Amino acid sequence: MHNILEAIQSGDATSEDFASLELPESYRAAFVKKDEVDMFEGMTSKEKDPRKSLHVDEVPLPELGPGEAFVAVMASAINYNTVWTSIFEPVSTFGFLERYGRNSELTKRHDLPYHVVGSDLSGVVLKTGPGVTKWKPGDRVVAHCLSVELEGPDGHNDTMLDTEQRIWGFETNFGGLADVAMVKANQLMPKPEHLTWEEAASPGLVNCTAYRQLVSKNGGDMKQGDNVLIWGASGGLGGFATQYALNGGATPVCVVSNEEKAAIARSMGAELIINRSEEGYKFWNDEGTEQDPREWKRFGARIRELTGGEDIDIVFEHPGRETFGASVFVTRKGGTITTCASTSGYMHEYDNRYLWMNLKRIISSHFANYRESWEANRLIAKGKIHPTLSKTYTLDEVGQASLDVHQNAHQGKVGVLCLSPEEGLGVLDHEMRAQHETAINRFRGV
Ligand SMILES: NC(=O)c1ccc[n+]([C@@H]2O[C@H](COP(=O)([O-])OP(=O)(O)OC[C@H]3O[C@@H](n4cnc5c(N)ncnc54)[C@H](OP(=O)(O)O)[C@@H]3O)[C@@H](O)[C@H]2O)c1
Repeated sequence: MHNILEAIQSGDATSEDFASLELPESYRAAFVKKDEVDMFEGMTSKEKDPRKSLHVDEVPLPELGPGEAFVAVMASAINYNTVWTSIFEPVSTFGFLERYGRNSELTKRHDLPYHVVGSDLSGVVLKTGPGVTKWKPGDRVVAHCLSVELEGPDGHNDTMLDTEQRIWGFETNFGGLADVAMVKANQLMPKPEHLTWEEAASPGLVNCTAYRQLVSKNGGDMKQGDNVLIWGASGGLGGFATQYALNGGATPVCVVSNEEKAAIARSMGAELIINRSEEGYKFWNDEGTEQDPREWKRFGARIRELTGGEDIDIVFEHPGRETFGASVFVTRKGGTITTCASTSGYMHEYDNRYLWMNLKRIISSHFANYRESWEANRLIAKGKIHPTLSKTYTLDEVGQASLDVHQNAHQGKVGVLCLSPEEGLGVLDHEMRAQHETAINRFRGV
């Protein structure tokens, strides 16, 4: 890999130079093993430690297929999906790989006894497969994580609806937490050049998801003046949702669980903040069998106190079971609850009378199509939306990085250096960086 890193760092290697580089037979990658899927049996989710299940070692480089690209990964980031894979919850991701592998000779490459994880990357294209014309060796890129086949009609209005839609590095193999990744060329987007490798890698999955869920017509279709309730406003998704609300002329009502997180939300420009720990909301009884509508009302009253008597137009939902009843309750008549996850449990319960009598809508949202991803990345490249990177680990420390996210001990995004030997490398547009330095560093050092 040394020659590859040298070419990237030289600054003057041409596309032909990159194309002539010899590719290694194996590469360093973070993966879980199929023969270890039962290793945490009998433990609670909290007890399951990604440091035990995530391994970093050499794996063979796969064959490159049509429409695909190898990328030398300079940096990647931790997403919650890597936490799910590493604790084998709610299901082992080897089931995804087996199913994908049954489709064709090409997809069979993904069905292996190890799963290389990771759904974000920044780096440099090393090689493209047959049929790729838009990208070439040497291109500096980031990748979004939507993998589609588009053989049938279903995905041709919105690629998220493709029957063979998958999240790269979660439902497919050869993910971004590695020195080399294999992606489909239609996952590639230009690297924002005012950012370092680790900063550029970190927005990807959550930025695109937040864009579709809140801004896109396929999601919340947010407009100026909307009151947007954002759970986990300083977390992975929430850190971007808060920026989109502020950028789009909406008013975010940010929910966080401690003062540090409140300070971050405030520093992004949010004024209406609820510290859920301080307020001590208890939407469910101790047994987790019944909700307390009085607590929903207390939460709604606090929102009205902050907004001057108004209710929520759009709830940005992802905690799921623990908060969903409250989210439905506090939405205004005709308002929208957009949901993309169920971190605290996927069997949601809410009082349907509040939904139908008040003509509220629940909209499901999942990642983003290429166009939405491109728009979200473009906003980063223009310095309108900023990365939320708080801390960066090396690839060898990927288990600890995932544990931080699993334990909710992090802010914003946690980065991972892959080929990049240190933080701070990869910036080409220093002038633009200088303009946005404070915003880029907002989540660091807290
Ligand atoms: N469908 C998709 O395309 C998609 C994409 C990205 C992520 N996701 C999913 O979305 C979820 C969040 O992802 P993320 O990257 O934002 O994770 P994250 O960085 O861990 O942030 C989530 C935040 O939610 C808040 N939270 C957690 N549990 C909560 C609870 N029980 N009640 C209220 N707030 C709670 C926490 O903030 P406070 O402690 O400050 O309140 C936490 O920081 C995960 O389940 C992930 O798998 C789905």
